[in-house]
Amino acid sequence: MLWPRQAYIGGSASAGTSIIDTPLSKPDQFFSALQAAFADGSLVRIALRAYVGDHEALKTVDIKPVIIKRQNQLSFTWHYKTRDVVKNHDLDESMETLRGIVGIEFNLAQLFTTAGDWSLDFQGKSPKLKQSAATQTAPVSLAHDRAKARAIPAGKPWLRDLGVTDAEGKVIPSAQDKFRQINRYVEILGPLLKAIRPDRLKRVVDMGSGKGYLTFAVADFLAQTLQSGAQVVGVEMRPDMVRLCNEIAGKVGLAQLGFAQGSIADYDSAGASVLIALHACDTATDDAIAKGIAADAELIVVAPCCHKQIRREIEAAAASTPLDYLLRHGIFVERQAEMVTDGIRALLLEAHGYSSKVFEFISDQHTPKNVMIVGERTGRGRNAAALEKVAAAKAFLGIRRHYLETALGLE
Ligand SMILES: C[S@@+](CC[C@H](N)C(=O)[O-])C[C@H]1O[C@@H](n2cnc3c(N)ncnc32)[C@H](O)[C@@H]1O
Repeated sequence: MLWPRQAYIGGSASAGTSIIDTPLSKPDQFFSALQAAFADGSLVRIALRAYVGDHEALKTVDIKPVIIKRQNQLSFTWHYKTRDVVKNHDLDESMETLRGIVGIEFNLAQLFTTAGDWSLDFQGKSPKLKQSAATQTAPVSLAHDRAKARAIPAGKPWLRDLGVTDAEGKVIPSAQDKFRQINRYVEILGPLLKAIRPDRLKRVVDMGSGKGYLTFAVADFLAQTLQSGAQVVGVEMRPDMVRLCNEIAGKVGLAQLGFAQGSIADYDSAGASVLIALHACDTATDDAIAKGIAADAELIVVAPCCHKQIRREIEAAAASTPLDYLLRHGIFVERQAEMVTDGIRALLLEAHGYSSKVFEFISDQHTPKNVMIVGERTGRGRNAAALEKVAAAKAFLGIRRHYLETALGLE
């Protein structure tokens, strides 16, 4: 790599280290070296240290080159006391950001390239720029979005038959989000399935299976990864989807997988050990949870869809609740409906002998419907206090009923 103004480098500060004296300002030399390294691919990383800015929780920043959607970018990881924030920028944005903080908020900037390391230090009376031998000489991988080792790799024949991948086994652009969702779902489900005693893992039921993306993924994972003979059943009201899915399951030889046409509420879940659902519409998620509880399933995992039933209840009572100042705004009604619907679902799981966890299972970049509820059977029996909390929450918000109560026969 050609170092900018290399001809001016002179004067040895210590073994292998040079102090640089040039007409360019020291920060400019540092930034030129950074830009040159970015351009010729020798950039390894940049570290910003000695923070003196106003944000009390910000500590350091680490920056590395990445390729995102075929574009060379810089990925900034802002390290705060209790969290990291990652932001990716093209070179122009990155330089603007760096010029605004190096020597102003961060008194030490270090540049590591495969040709040499640089440090720009503002901690003395005047800035010092040093160059030393490279600490890393091997080129770095820029593949930010390189093929990850996924629970469900793209090469599966059923992914092609379902239209998720093309003839070469590449995920088609419009199916990327669904591909990520099912992978993430299986990544979370995997350890939970492994935790179930094999003799209790008999049947997994996917409620509202649609085109069967998740159902196939779980069947494949059980058969190939867990070497489990557990059956997998997709329950779906649309006959065309059920027919297509059964055809593909037969074609690819997933013998333990089948699809049943009908409504979730009518499905006989007796004997189901695991109940899953991905984006089963509105109260269909409640029917799914109720079927899992009725079967005394070991595990219930749902990622809900819309929350219309509770939204209507909240809207009807909004004006006469202490939250009227929030609930006159549609966006807050929407968010409140989601939280209340899923919060009460978690409580009702607890009321029926399950532990509950509610969390985002995937970034909202891939779907806004990114909340997951996991209920694991505790074997500790019912929890009456959880039912009391449901009653108190309903009274506070003026909600007459949550559909899951009806589905569970609580009213
Ligand atoms: C949004 S899609 C999700 C499909 C699939 N789980 C996925 O994530 O790709 C919801 C599916 O649930 C089905 N569905 C909704 N309510 C249902 C019910 N009560 N009984 C059976 N299927 C239902 C719909 O027909 C639709 O195919």
